[in-house]
Amino acid sequence: MAMREFLVSLHMNKILVTGGCGYIGAHTIADLIENGFEVISADNNSRSNENILEAVEKITGKSVKNYKVDLCIYDDTVAIFQENPDITGIIHFAAYKSVGESVKNPLLYFENNLNSLINILKCADEFGIPNFVFSSSCTVYGNPDIIPVTEESPMKAAESAYGATKQMGEQIVRETVNSSQNPAHKAPAVVKNIQAILLRYFNPVGAHPSALMGELPLGKPENLVPAITQTAIGKIPMMQVWGTDYDTRDGSCLRDYIHVCDIAHAHTLALNYLLQHKNESNCEIFNLGTGNGYTVLEIIKEFENASGVKLNYQLGPRRSGDVIAIYANNDKAKKLLGWQPKYSLQQMMATAWKWELKLKEDEKIFNSSNADLN
Ligand code: WQD
Repeated sequence: MAMREFLVSLHMNKILVTGGCGYIGAHTIADLIENGFEVISADNNSRSNENILEAVEKITGKSVKNYKVDLCIYDDTVAIFQENPDITGIIHFAAYKSVGESVKNPLLYFENNLNSLINILKCADEFGIPNFVFSSSCTVYGNPDIIPVTEESPMKAAESAYGATKQMGEQIVRETVNSSQNPAHKAPAVVKNIQAILLRYFNPVGAHPSALMGELPLGKPENLVPAITQTAIGKIPMMQVWGTDYDTRDGSCLRDYIHVCDIAHAHTLALNYLLQHKNESNCEIFNLGTGNGYTVLEIIKEFENASGVKLNYQLGPRRSGDVIAIYANNDKAKKLLGWQPKYSLQQMMATAWKWELKLKEDEKIFNSSNADLN
């Protein structure tokens, strides 16, 4: 029995999480550890902070090693696998993810998101890592004609470079997995066929209920919920609602907002699905959304109810790259992964707000301790 199969049989599963210091990455690491996995992270912290792993340790009691590596550099990436021959699975989050930014700087997104994926897949192939979970996105659907979307809904032209990198990323994973099944394929020392799962997230929001970790946007937040909470706490004087003339209930865009902890747990379930060989094909796709769509203005109202704070916003022009309306049919993930989103919209807003309040509290403590030093 190959070494990796032996480790899997002993339930000694070491998982490499790339982008492990990111918002979804760190929440997923916490969920993996709480479900018995050993985890290492690879994150160059270009858009994240390693301190988030201290929060993971506070939550789980386990410290997590982070390899501060640019995954676009192959030699640095392969070193992780040489040092960890007992990796049995990879969850690949590492990517830039702002729709708005990708429209302004597409080449940055193609270079970073695709090169890092290709290097990780090269290593998975060469080291015979059998289980691969790819962080994909509902943006692969573009502007869908019919909603809710199922995993079989057509992928229309991506509305942004970010969405295009996810469409291409899925194709790269699919082709790599198929080639690893091909008998003519040069099999690595440990003859393993890569089995992959593509998880299409809708809009991840909220924070860990402990308020020990949450979203940490760098600079002015592009995404709706951090823009709301930073406006509510006074970091931003006023936020814009990008477009109120769309063909939706109230003219603002419609999305399927899903708690980050529900997204995180889906990764644990997806890995177990692969480890237990329940997968029906070697590259399966799952939508991760609640199955409910809400408009921007409805989210603002929900936040105001959950926080008790009246939000200061104005109705602005459309943002290029925005999809008009999308939400998920999540039946497949529920049926095959046994996934059941458990956080309500109210809890999504409440945990996001609690996290923003905690950040302000920490900032006050940090500033007062600095003041004492001066
Ligand atoms: C949502 C709506 C904005 C900010 C995200 C992630 C992407 C992917 C899909 C996972 C839009 C409006 C926003 C603001 C606003 N998720 N908005 N004022 O664009 O759907 O993409 O989900 O992979 O990674 O970025 O999310 O939060 O940026 O925008 O009116 O200040 O909120 O126009 O209609 P988006 P978002």
